Amino acid sequence: MRLHEYYFGNMTRGGKAIDKSTNFYTKIVDDFGSYENWEKDFRAVGSMRGIGWAVLYYDGMADHLFNAWINEHDVGHLSGARPMLVMDAFEHAFMIDYGLKRADYIEAFFEAIDWTIDPDTDKWMFKWMRMKNETGSKKYESSTN
Ligand SMILES: [Fe+2]
Repeated sequence: MRLHEYYFGNMTRGGKAIDKSTNFYTKIVDDFGSYENWEKDFRAVGSMRGIGWAVLYYDGMADHLFNAWINEHDVGHLSGARPMLVMDAFEHAFMIDYGLKRADYIEAFFEAIDWTIDPDTDKWMFKWMRMKNETGSKKYESSTN
């Protein structure tokens, strides 16, 4: 049931915009080219045929964000990767309100995303990003010092 906890935990009525000063936002832009690219990819993953979950993972060892399709709570998760955003794409999540119109459900989900990131999580990401930043530049700044 953990994915449901993430799912409901990353939504709030009316949504909450992403803080562009966070390492999380910086990483999205770095790994996908832009926030818009990430969103397009996540929507595509969430629109895949079948039932499951769309998950934005952060793999600290690889220092990379991934959008992935997961079928079950206990199957197919990326080892060591942390779910950063979870969307339920099982029919029970949208059939009552949206029928077969999953795109409408995904639109409503995006309007409800709470992008608030726990400062400790953002700091944790910063540590991985700094370790992988071989140039030693100051590109990533800890927002929680
Ligand atoms: Fe569900």
